[in-house]
Amino acid sequence: MNAPQEFDRHKETYRSDIDRAVAFSGQSHDFFTRVKAEYLIGLLGAVEKEAPSLAAIPLRVLDVGCGHGHIHPYLIQSALRMKLSAVDVAATVVEEARLMNPTVDYQSYAGERLPYDDNSFDAAYTIAVMHHVPPPQWPAFLNEMRRVVRPGGSIAIFEHNPINPLTQWIVRTCPIDENAVLLGRGRLSKLVAQAKFAAIESRFILFTPLDGAGYRAFDRMIGWLPLGAQYYVSARVPHTG
Ligand SMILES: C[S@@+](CC[C@H](N)C(=O)[O-])C[C@H]1O[C@@H](n2cnc3c(N)ncnc32)[C@H](O)[C@@H]1O
Repeated sequence: MNAPQEFDRHKETYRSDIDRAVAFSGQSHDFFTRVKAEYLIGLLGAVEKEAPSLAAIPLRVLDVGCGHGHIHPYLIQSALRMKLSAVDVAATVVEEARLMNPTVDYQSYAGERLPYDDNSFDAAYTIAVMHHVPPPQWPAFLNEMRRVVRPGGSIAIFEHNPINPLTQWIVRTCPIDENAVLLGRGRLSKLVAQAKFAAIESRFILFTPLDGAGYRAFDRMIGWLPLGAQYYVSARVPHTG
């Protein structure tokens, strides 16, 4: 079954399936979404700060594999000024996201060429998507992100950490992950380098499901430790080449 059919099929139960799989942590899907939103807002804020010429216009941001757009309210309500676009292969899921977040520009596509011109965005991100993309297509997926982001712009890829035993448990028990192929931080960083991105950085996140400022600060302090439930790789589109 290919990815578009897969997620259209899970659209009714997507949130409850994930909530059930992460229930042992004592947190809901929304907690994990909110924490990732905090990291993403930090990364996007850095892009905004570096380009003073952008101050007067909103940051153009693309979410690749947006699903239901659960993270979008956090981004829209943040202090960042952004024009958010989002794309997914699951057309019926995108329709639902559009109803929930009418200010976001949603599109669906076939999973190969992103439906945007070159250099259309200042930043693009993708969350929990690459493990649903067949591995032979990973390089093309990254090349498409690079094509649509302007030189100097930024990308971020959030993924499950296959080393973490609780992550393994969640992926094994969550119906939406039945065809998932997890990729570790090292492998993804190498793919990002092969796709000719620059300034590649990474950080492990979500070491604890405990909420509160102290726990979140702890999370940030130990981002080098490869035990977080998830991680992200961020990079820049180089100005030349
Ligand atoms: C686990 S969901 C994550 C959704 C959302 N990013 C989130 O964090 O809530 C994975 C999503 O990736 C989408 N997807 C799978 N293959 C894709 C591709 N090649 N391009 C874009 N989206 C894809 C699926 O349709 C699904 O909505």
